[in-house]
Amino acid sequence: MHYFPNKNRYLEMKYNRVGKSGLKLPAISAGLWQHFGETDVYATCRDIICRSFDLGITHFDLANNYGNPPGSSEEIFGKILRTQLQGYRDEILITTKAGYDMWEGPYGEWGSKKYLVASMDQSLKRLGVEYVDMFYSHRFDPETPLEETMRTLDLFVRQGKALYVGISNYDLENTKKAVTILKELGTPCLIHQPSYSMLNRWIEGGLLEYLRKEGIGIITFQPMQRGLLTDTYLEGIPSDKAATLAEIGITEERVALARKLNEVAKKRKQTLAQMAIAWVLRDGKVTSVLVGASTVSQIEDNVAALNNGTFSPEELTQIDSILKA
Ligand SMILES: NC(=O)c1ccc[n+]([C@@H]2O[C@H](COP(=O)([O-])OP(=O)(O)OC[C@H]3O[C@@H](n4cnc5c(N)ncnc54)[C@H](OP(=O)(O)O)[C@@H]3O)[C@@H](O)[C@H]2O)c1
Repeated sequence: MHYFPNKNRYLEMKYNRVGKSGLKLPAISAGLWQHFGETDVYATCRDIICRSFDLGITHFDLANNYGNPPGSSEEIFGKILRTQLQGYRDEILITTKAGYDMWEGPYGEWGSKKYLVASMDQSLKRLGVEYVDMFYSHRFDPETPLEETMRTLDLFVRQGKALYVGISNYDLENTKKAVTILKELGTPCLIHQPSYSMLNRWIEGGLLEYLRKEGIGIITFQPMQRGLLTDTYLEGIPSDKAATLAEIGITEERVALARKLNEVAKKRKQTLAQMAIAWVLRDGKVTSVLVGASTVSQIEDNVAALNNGTFSPEELTQIDSILKA
């Protein structure tokens, strides 16, 4: 099937500058952790990526271990890049990461140079590209000297294997250390990727303000708490899925909270998913929000969150009081 991208793809999306850098990210970026593996339907993966690009999403977020089996998301995205998106590499930002378990033995996870260098080469091969736009240390390694991890990020930029580097899931204290080391090496930390949602506000405890002060971009993940903050479970959790969903924090107790938030969303004439995304972007502090989607209609619904991104003080107070109750 030949794909011709929508000629108007850049008209509706908002592009935000990443901290003090020269780069801009779409306000909504596509995350390919779930639903983009070898065990998923290829045609659906392809359609979601193409529709995302049509809607102005230029940034696709991956990691070495994404997909089932791990690595298959990068392979699938690479295949779509070589087919449907052939000729559009310069309009697209590809992100990958390393830090979590990827292969057996002592060199298959965390933050050593040995692991990161091998992982980067594997990712480039799976994606079929010469460089990625951003490479992240996926998590802080308490055992490897931080200098070693940061030096390896710096190396990737000097080798031309990554244009920019960032960190993900680092707490405030280790973020400060990483930022200082990278600054000394002459490769600035472009961006931090932490989790953030109405139900998970840990970055408001200092990290968000620090990153803004330093001119570092912030791209947050899981605005919908993996589906909890969407319409999917508002009618109740199917009993055959209850145990699996409880493992990822989707319980009847939390769905009751989602129902209350949905009443606010309905008054705003938004779906709950749209309000969850708009809330993350509400005050311009977050550069981009990463969203996952299992269907084309979900990505359409999510991008439409930008049509109503403003919250009145009353709405914000109402949301806060629901969350505090
Ligand atoms: N750096 C890190 O450590 C890290 C960790 C986690 C995630 N991430 C990044 O963040 C991305 C997003 O995370 P995520 O997928 O876990 O969480 P999410 O974006 O909060 O949730 C996505 C899920 O919500 C459901 N959904 C999405 N839009 C919907 C809509 N409009 N209506 C109804 N349901 C909707 C879908 O679930 P169904 O399956 O029910 O359809 C979808 O898979 C990942 O792909 C990854 O790129 C990064």
